Amino acid sequence: PGDPLVDTHGRVHRDLRVSLTDRCSLRCTYCMPEQGNEWLARSSILTLDEIERIARVAAAAGVSTFRLTGGEPLLRTDIVEVVRRLSAISSPSGPVQLAMTTNGIKLAEKLPALVDAGLNRLNISIDTLDRARFHELTRRDRIDEVFEGIAAAAASGLRPLKLNTVAMRGVNDDELADLVQFAVDHGAELRFIEQMPLDAGHTWDRAQMVTREEILAALAARWQLTPIPGRGGAPAERWTLDGGPHTVGVIASVTAPFCGDCDRLRLTADGQLRNCLFSTTEYDLVPILRDGDAAAIDDRIDGMLRSCVHGKLPGHAINDPGFLQPARGMNAIGG
Ligand code: GTP
Ligand code: 5AD
Ligand code: SF4
Repeated sequence: PGDPLVDTHGRVHRDLRVSLTDRCSLRCTYCMPEQGNEWLARSSILTLDEIERIARVAAAAGVSTFRLTGGEPLLRTDIVEVVRRLSAISSPSGPVQLAMTTNGIKLAEKLPALVDAGLNRLNISIDTLDRARFHELTRRDRIDEVFEGIAAAAASGLRPLKLNTVAMRGVNDDELADLVQFAVDHGAELRFIEQMPLDAGHTWDRAQMVTREEILAALAARWQLTPIPGRGGAPAERWTLDGGPHTVGVIASVTAPFCGDCDRLRLTADGQLRNCLFSTTEYDLVPILRDGDAAAIDDRIDGMLRSCVHGKLPGHAINDPGFLQPARGMNAIGG
């Protein structure tokens, strides 16, 4: 306990992504079927106290950033309390940073309370600016609520503010530059994401994927792109637009993986630790939390964090023959 979470490849783990629910207010075709997935049982979902306990142990082991994800984290009815409890935690390097990744729905109404509770940063997903396309892609006619959420985030002063777009051929690849301009107009950074094989239907097709190279070519037609050095463990490569101050990012998980610098661990809504989006092993905290010796809980969580880190592979195997997609979909792993 107290030692940093270093894996067998020398990577220090400082980022814990906490999935709060597998449910979502949208049904993005690349993520979920129309009827949704078979949801996790309510009784298996970690409580506020359980999440806080795990987060405290992780912070003591050097985790300094928590990111709340889903499904859609704002569907958690106790979301403000989760933010309040986790943002109050300190790691040996100081108070933790608390970030959230959301689809933006309900964000406008909840943001004041979230900021008051200590939220530091927001990433908001938006794959298209077009109402009909949004409806088709997410199976919900709710783009106005997303726009309201982004406007509220822009007005809130939380910075850096990031917008995430999965680039998709024949879906939104003709509006990439418009999405960047939209982000610029909101004081945000647009980040394009290469689509990964994590869809519910297991229909991912490499040939359909819009690559980093294609994204950069599309943007270079409108702006002069200058690489920003010093990426560290961040998933996005970043560029200034026409010399700055505005920027754009690309998360090229498939064609230019950042696994070598990965500093992330994940906690699913049902209490499983994962060392990678693509891992096939999970480390179950539920028996420790619910059945074990109460006095030993923190030590055993710490031990499980270390086992999880120790078992981490050097990288994902998306590009290897025989790659197998994880059993859980993106909505249940937490992005
Ligand atoms: P920042 O700390 O703000 O850079 O956040 P982030 O980019 O890590 O988080 P976000 O939830 O916005 O994720 C953006 C995209 O990056 C999503 O498509 C994620 O699935 C992807 N992503 C996040 N973490 C990982 C990871 O560990 N591995 C891979 N391959 N992709 C990841
Ligand atoms: N590949 C890449 N990104 C994905 N996301 C969801 N599914 C995938 C996938 N298969 C994105 C969401 C959101 C972020 C958390 O992850 O669109 O922006
Ligand atoms: Fe919901 Fe995100 Fe999945 Fe879309 S990608 S259905 S917003 S969890």
